Amino acid sequence: MRGHDVRFLLPKRALGELFPGIESTELSTPVSQICRQDEWTLPLTELLTLAAICKHVRPRKVFEIGTYTGSTTLMMAKNTPYETEIFTLDLDPSQRETHKHGLGIGGLPAFAVGSAYQGLPFTTKVHQLFGNSVTFDYSPFAASIDLVLIDADHTYDFVKVDTANAFKLLRPGGIIIWDDYVWDERYPECIGVTRILNELQQTRRCFQIAGTRLAIYLDSL
Ligand SMILES: C[S@@+](CC[C@H](N)C(=O)[O-])C[C@H]1O[C@@H](n2cnc3c(N)ncnc32)[C@H](O)[C@@H]1O
Repeated sequence: MRGHDVRFLLPKRALGELFPGIESTELSTPVSQICRQDEWTLPLTELLTLAAICKHVRPRKVFEIGTYTGSTTLMMAKNTPYETEIFTLDLDPSQRETHKHGLGIGGLPAFAVGSAYQGLPFTTKVHQLFGNSVTFDYSPFAASIDLVLIDADHTYDFVKVDTANAFKLLRPGGIIIWDDYVWDERYPECIGVTRILNELQQTRRCFQIAGTRLAIYLDSL
């Protein structure tokens, strides 16, 4: 419990309970991802958990909402089959200063979208998309995605729309992962993720992945 009115209601499940057999999975990581000094990217435990899920599940199509510098994109590209396609969406950099985000306008850091994965040979499977996740036209991808990763604007209204869109993207048997179900006090806006997941678990079986701040929905469970 923190200084905010929030409870973490999702049941916790170990990765091995969610994905029987995953413990013996071997994953691959570029050394560049081991020591990163950037608080906007997934921490190493969550990054490796995401990579393990990708390696184990072998998704054919992935949709990521929130590329940032592309650490997660890179790890998903490295740990999925050659034929996998990864679509990753971020705000158009030219809109960054005028975009009305959940905490106001402006104040977003300067960064090069996807710089972590660009130019690496195994990332030809990555398709970089630009747009605001709440107004983006997802219809070409409807009901076709095996794995959706939600890690964009963490305020309630944005997470609500991103989550609704993720369910439209999902094919039967697919998976949705949210970062920041559990979060650091320095980023209280992430309470939006917690609240959406707490609401969602009343109608959908969602879990916190034990030992991580990730939440997950598996359509097959
Ligand atoms: C926490 S970072 C993502 C980090 C990334 N998943 C990683 O770990 O490498 C959030 C990203 O979402 C993007 N973002 C925020 N609001 C967005 C929106 N409404 N539409 C699209 N992207 C958005 C930001 O520009 C930022 O790059």
